[in-house]
Amino acid sequence: MEHTPNPTQDPAQNPAKLAIHGGPKTKTTPFGTGRRFGLEEAQQLLEALEQNTLFYHKGKKVTQFLADFGALYGVKHCVATSSGTASIHVALGAAGITIGDEVITSPVTDQGTLVGILYQNAIPVFADLDLHTYNLDPASVEARITPRTKAIVAVHLAGNPCEMDAIMDIAARHKLKVIEDCAQSYMTGYKGRLAGTIGDYGAFSTNDFKHISTGDGGIVTVNSGDETDYKTTHAFADKNYQRFGAIIDRELSYLAPNYRMTELQGAVGIAQLKKLVRICERRNILGDRLTAGIRDTPGIHPHQITEGGTCSYWFYMLRIDEKALSCTRDEFSAALAAEGIPNGAGYIARPVYMNEMFQQRQAYLGSHFPFDLSDVSYDKGICPQAEQILQTAIVIRINEFFTDQDIEDTIAGIRKVAAHYERNVGIK
Ligand SMILES: Cc1ncc(COP(=O)(O)O)c(C=O)c1O
Repeated sequence: MEHTPNPTQDPAQNPAKLAIHGGPKTKTTPFGTGRRFGLEEAQQLLEALEQNTLFYHKGKKVTQFLADFGALYGVKHCVATSSGTASIHVALGAAGITIGDEVITSPVTDQGTLVGILYQNAIPVFADLDLHTYNLDPASVEARITPRTKAIVAVHLAGNPCEMDAIMDIAARHKLKVIEDCAQSYMTGYKGRLAGTIGDYGAFSTNDFKHISTGDGGIVTVNSGDETDYKTTHAFADKNYQRFGAIIDRELSYLAPNYRMTELQGAVGIAQLKKLVRICERRNILGDRLTAGIRDTPGIHPHQITEGGTCSYWFYMLRIDEKALSCTRDEFSAALAAEGIPNGAGYIARPVYMNEMFQQRQAYLGSHFPFDLSDVSYDKGICPQAEQILQTAIVIRINEFFTDQDIEDTIAGIRKVAAHYERNVGIK
């Protein structure tokens, strides 16, 4: 049975008593909320409909959306897609990734990172992560390189940049393409540059859960500035239709899916983009404030931002040091929830390689292709740090509508729970 210090009948007389044990809740007011869509989006949608076409190549909205995005990011060539998953696939296709190629990526990500790799019949290879930034450990990336390695998909998790200097250096030395998965990382800074403009391609998602939403959708940045590269990328999202001059070239020279964005998505995207900088700045302030408030709390590892980076906190993920506290991660999570601070035990339950698809080596139903071209391991233990992260992590929501008070209450809740379990080390 768990020991609770100085039990009292009146919770108000013992504010340190955990809410889960009947003490007072830390958070007694609702978290700030707001509307992400307004008249700006409605006006854009109306204009899209008035064009009398919703096809991107006839209307102006997707073109405008890409021009605005390119201007914000300082990138000449961008391609619109139907999702973040599609963006990554398009980038891989344009990079020429194909059968049996190995693509090194992160084991803690959305499955959308992996879909394009396998649709190109390439082999995902998982490198381990830094224990505190939750992004690829460059040394582990380099250790996984073989003669078959052709690309790195660097996932900037939760708005935090990967160590791009080291990754680009490895890529240059081994002649690898770099695709930045920026689905969770808008306006993420790295040493004066923006994530998504550093590798060969950046892949963004505008699904409904991201910093900005077009319902679904995505953007690929083509960072070479090369016209042919841009045209290949563009065509790869559009069934290989070459829509560049007065005459549309439909020669099907190689396989490419239809991942087109509609004018409705482009229209909403134009209005959403105008809010993006403010959204990211606010999330950056809130997340960094949270770190400052819990930095010295024994038993807590804050979400560490990569050196030289700025984070737009798609979520905040701290870790529990179970040796310094007398509780498990799940007990901490439950106690924090009882304090009125919603949280999740880890961003995903286990590294993506523990999914059935990898364990059964079955990407296509009824087939082991392309896994049977490779003996790459997906065994438990291949990325010990990633596994440790997910066993000890607690995800805290960050939202641009949160008030300063919301973050102060979150800090107070975390400190209260940590202090309780720190006092009670060794007592269960
Ligand atoms: C890191 C990462 N990559 C890729 C994706 C896929 O994006 P979408 O859902 O738009 O296909 C997501 C979406 O959650 C993501 O978080």
